[in-house]
Amino acid sequence: RLDPLVLGIETSCDETGIGIVRGTTLLSNTIASSMEEHARYGGVVPEVAARAHLEELVPAIHAAVAEAGIRLTDLDAIAVTSGPGLAGALMVGVGAAKALAVALGKPIYAVNHLVGHVGADLLRNGAEHADEPLEYPTIALLVSGGHTSLLLVRDLVSDVELLGETIDDAAGEAFDKVARILGLPYPGGPEIDRAAQGGDPRAIRFPRGLSRPKDMALHRYDFSFSGLKTSVARWVEQRQDAGETVPIADVAASFREAVVDILLTKAVAACVDLGVPRLLLGGGVIANARLRALAEERTTAAGIALRIPPLSLCTDNGAMIAALGAQLIIAGHEPSTLGFGADSTLPV
Ligand code: KG4
Ligand code: ZN
Repeated sequence: RLDPLVLGIETSCDETGIGIVRGTTLLSNTIASSMEEHARYGGVVPEVAARAHLEELVPAIHAAVAEAGIRLTDLDAIAVTSGPGLAGALMVGVGAAKALAVALGKPIYAVNHLVGHVGADLLRNGAEHADEPLEYPTIALLVSGGHTSLLLVRDLVSDVELLGETIDDAAGEAFDKVARILGLPYPGGPEIDRAAQGGDPRAIRFPRGLSRPKDMALHRYDFSFSGLKTSVARWVEQRQDAGETVPIADVAASFREAVVDILLTKAVAACVDLGVPRLLLGGGVIANARLRALAEERTTAAGIALRIPPLSLCTDNGAMIAALGAQLIIAGHEPSTLGFGADSTLPV
């Protein structure tokens, strides 16, 4: 099959994503998010996310099929995220995918969510770099509310290596927590990004996690954001205790700079260390204006080709899962047997 028609199901976090692709051509990408339901808790509540997936999945499948202009019986295969992610949320997608595959008599492919983010790059129909296929090897920096990972991708379907990841909070989670400290609404990433525009990124020197020499020896490509969050909380408390007003724009700009600086320092270090002159970005935090600007600046200075898929493909979605499923079929991989389950810590 050169151009398999694949439906992808993504439910690893708070987005119910259904995507349909034909090979590397995007036919539909339907996303329902339970973000608003999590807002009053200041973060994703796993139980709430799982229930929302259950309610949204079937309507999302119908919408995606209608938008793609296909019938379910036309499909060559179903692909589904089996991990990593929230266990209960994953289970809803995996259960639905198996039911659909059995009912339609179609093969099913269980895929890794992080590798799916890399696969998103294949779907840039008509977008920038559309005619230039992703070259290997490439380094991928994936940053969202649920993960912060650095991957070495030698081949999308057969050779992906995890170089490092966060040892505590994800970068997006840090944005959400610091927004809360500053009294900004959830999700905090866009709010901080906006507040930071009028601030001075050099006003406060917040710590860059795992950047000291002894940390670099053990955790060269790992990230840590909980110390940074604590540092911001302490700084803000001290001002409040002293009866001073908190300079929100400066705190937001300085915090944002600390996150973006360490993300790119480590990503570029991986490219240089491993002699890989290509960097791909993915995940919802890629929307960050400063991250985009600094990525451009640092990769240009280091002679690294930078690729950023369109934002609708960077945030969690089903199309990237379908795209990876299609690549597995094209590469001749066997489908998964129905015994697979959701695996919240699935390795790449
Ligand atoms: O990939 P994504 O849509 O989904 C999940 O992680 O589930 O990423 C959402 C995360 C949230 O933590 C949000 O605060 C963060 O991405 N985010 C941003 C920005 N836009 C969204 N973080 C920093 N700057 C932004 N502009
Ligand atoms: Zn993701």
